[in-house]
Amino acid sequence: MSYFSAVDVIHTKRDGAALSDDAIAWILNAYHLGEVAEEQMSSLLMAIFFNGLSKGELRAWTDQMIGSGERLDLKGLSRPTVDKHSTGGVGDKISLILAPLVAACGAAVPQLSGRGLGHTGGTLDKLESIPGWRANLTNDEIRDQLDSIGAVICAAGPGLAPVDRKLYSLRDVTGTVESIPLIASSIMSKKIAEGTDALVLDVKVGRGAFIKSVEQARLLATTMVQLGSDHGVATVAQLTSMNAPLGRAVGNALEVTESVDVLRGAGPADVRDLTVDLARIMLELVAVDVDPAAKLADGSAHEVYCRMIRAQGGDPDVVLPLAKHRDVVVATHEGVVQSVDALTVGVAAWRLGAGRARKEDPVSAAAGVVCLVREGDAIVVGQPLFELHADDDAHLQRGRDAITDAVVVSDQLVMVEPLLLERVTN
Ligand code: URA
Repeated sequence: MSYFSAVDVIHTKRDGAALSDDAIAWILNAYHLGEVAEEQMSSLLMAIFFNGLSKGELRAWTDQMIGSGERLDLKGLSRPTVDKHSTGGVGDKISLILAPLVAACGAAVPQLSGRGLGHTGGTLDKLESIPGWRANLTNDEIRDQLDSIGAVICAAGPGLAPVDRKLYSLRDVTGTVESIPLIASSIMSKKIAEGTDALVLDVKVGRGAFIKSVEQARLLATTMVQLGSDHGVATVAQLTSMNAPLGRAVGNALEVTESVDVLRGAGPADVRDLTVDLARIMLELVAVDVDPAAKLADGSAHEVYCRMIRAQGGDPDVVLPLAKHRDVVVATHEGVVQSVDALTVGVAAWRLGAGRARKEDPVSAAAGVVCLVREGDAIVVGQPLFELHADDDAHLQRGRDAITDAVVVSDQLVMVEPLLLERVTN
């Protein structure tokens, strides 16, 4: 590999010129090995934040991130593989239902997931509220479970795109997270290294999402779809609204319970409809001609869910942890609910104990919020709006303080906005 000077690489990007493939390969490799200082990589990240990466640079950057670790070999399974990635939202428990549903239809779903940070929850945190459930699997266990059951939700191992871990921690503390090429390469390097044949990206946009504007979401979606296609992964993105929480439950065990409700044919319509819609796109990508709505209705998806949980040490029928402390927030105005703010509800769930501020923090399984009203509902004074769940009084009080003003009420009728915004394909 050619040798470069880190300062020269920084100058090049700072001054708006393009980095060569070799310079990108060198600097990411040297950073991974600890030969480029954190302050130098911080400076380069900030230059990328302001000057972006061209298509060619982004491809080389992503290639190098993938090449920094292992690639899972999912070839030779009896079914085609297809995964889904969500950019993160409030009450987003779709993966818990979608993975077994798509498996019940005949594809295999390798859902290598992460934990939550801040106000958005993490799939692993949710499933870990099931006592005994194991997030860490070996590569052989992942393959075996995909072959026998068709669905795995587990932790992305440290061997997958390891330089992303280092970069992500650095971006977190240097104000360089919100960069389209850095987000796109971070997400896609892990998904491509995972070895899936196809991928559906659920790009969340709105108050409770990482990305607030449709234009930015579209740009991120297009960038990721292009990266997927460049690397031989058939990729489609669906932009979905995250202004209001998805479903009613926000919090780890609460969301598992709501997911099981949907798998049993009940549960909130928005969760069910979005899951079936994403399942249809996933199945189309791998040419499996089965109706997911039918597999949800006839109990097949629930059966796969139970097998998937048991295979990872959990009991799907166990009673999940319940909060010892609860409170109900009631309406102080009469009228029609104009909005339920996803960000406020997400922050309240986090303050109640469901989320973490730092990667090392523990989360409460039982804490969270149940939303009792939705946009467009007519409400009266004293009507319950939210149920708050916490393990102790101090957390309950923090949640109470955070949830003030989460609901906007007026006497106007509202147009309930659609959840599905637009689809981005190659
Ligand atoms: N999720 C990731 O994995 N990386 C990002 O940069 C943002 C969200």
